[in-house]
Amino acid sequence: MPAGYTSTAAASHGAAISACVLVGSFGLFLVQKPAILSRSAATGGPGRWTSSDSDEHTLDRILMDASMPDNTVILTTMNEAWAAPDSVLDLFLESFRIGEGTRHLLNHLVIISLDRGAFSRCTALHSHCFPLITEGVDFSREAYFMTPGYLKMMWRRIDFLRSVLAMGYNFVFTDADVMWFRDPFPNFHPDADFQIACDHFSGGAEDTRNVPNGGFSFVRSNERSMEFYNFWYSSRNTYPGLHDQDVLSRIKNSSFIRNGGIKMRFLDTDLFGGFCEPSRNLSRVCTMHANCCLGLSSKLNDLRLLLEDWKRYSSLPERLKPLSPPSWSVPQNCSIKSLFHDEDESDFLDEEEEEEEEEEEDHYYSI
Ligand SMILES: *[C@@H]1O[C@H](CO)[C@@H](O)[C@H](O)[C@H]1NC(C)=O
Ligand SMILES: *[C@@H]1O[C@H](CO)[C@@H](O)[C@H](O)[C@H]1NC(C)=O
Ligand SMILES: *[C@@H]1O[C@H](CO)[C@@H](O)[C@H](O)[C@H]1NC(C)=O
Repeated sequence: MPAGYTSTAAASHGAAISACVLVGSFGLFLVQKPAILSRSAATGGPGRWTSSDSDEHTLDRILMDASMPDNTVILTTMNEAWAAPDSVLDLFLESFRIGEGTRHLLNHLVIISLDRGAFSRCTALHSHCFPLITEGVDFSREAYFMTPGYLKMMWRRIDFLRSVLAMGYNFVFTDADVMWFRDPFPNFHPDADFQIACDHFSGGAEDTRNVPNGGFSFVRSNERSMEFYNFWYSSRNTYPGLHDQDVLSRIKNSSFIRNGGIKMRFLDTDLFGGFCEPSRNLSRVCTMHANCCLGLSSKLNDLRLLLEDWKRYSSLPERLKPLSPPSWSVPQNCSIKSLFHDEDESDFLDEEEEEEEEEEEDHYYSI
């Protein structure tokens, strides 16, 4: 594996503020490019963090290095708790190595680090690491990185992803607690702009009753997807206090989408499953997400079991594989209570937020 990214990161001073303007049917949107932190390679050690003008094109360069010939990248976000040894990151990377035809996809994976701990662990393990912070944040305060508000973090992700689209890259966004067992690309809908995995799949790829999960999506960069991300991002003001996934559930049947604003498809849980609704066939499953799960230790426990299940399946003789029953041993410690409701969503949200306060550090990410 090539050396970590730090060797090419040049540190300098000054805030990188640049904006690009997108004109859409919703008027003008300012897309603020993310400020970029770079760890000075020269200082070595724990690394010195500075915002940097000269790194304005760092993201561009990292995406270019990681991209497939058709400008597609795989993106995930990471904080220190998830990047620590024996935590989520190690299991995530292991899944690519033991999956069928997934190892080469690591060459196209960019790990977006949300704090310095995650960034330094990334550079030790992986070749495409990008450190992300938001403009105007005093990043000298380490506490900030370790205790970011859940909503702020989730919306920052949407904001970041729309800037990736604006740079011309298609992306698979994957939470790091999604285990990759098969190459998903042959199983994506060939002509959709935006496709997303589900906590619950109703059976139809276009059915807006599906319950989407923002932890896994494939988005093609074009006018429609950029406008959609602008619409989604601006809808946070229409539904204050909700995170991106719940806002998506509110807007998925909006006139913007019904009137052809974007071609949206929902992915079958048999292929893109999770603890909410596991895939029913190990011979078809591409990914399994540790969704419907609260608490990092439970998540790690069950992710390890999930990898064991896969290894057991993989070691079967080829002729027996298709006959293998869907014998997941998970969810075990992960909460099995249904985390998706149609009618009483707000009750669930209150409950969820309370639990998040207790364990904020553990899961910034969709559950
Ligand atoms: C979506 O919206 C249309 C028009 O308002 C409505 O007829 C339809 O029932 C809605 N579908 C769902 C699944 O909510
Ligand atoms: C699982 O999928 C494989 C490959 O598509 C198929 O041959 C097999 O019959 C399926 N098994 C079940 C139980 O549906
Ligand atoms: C998982 O659940 C079992 C049984 O409730 C418990 O003994 C164990 O400590 C849990 N493990 C983790 C890592 O949470």
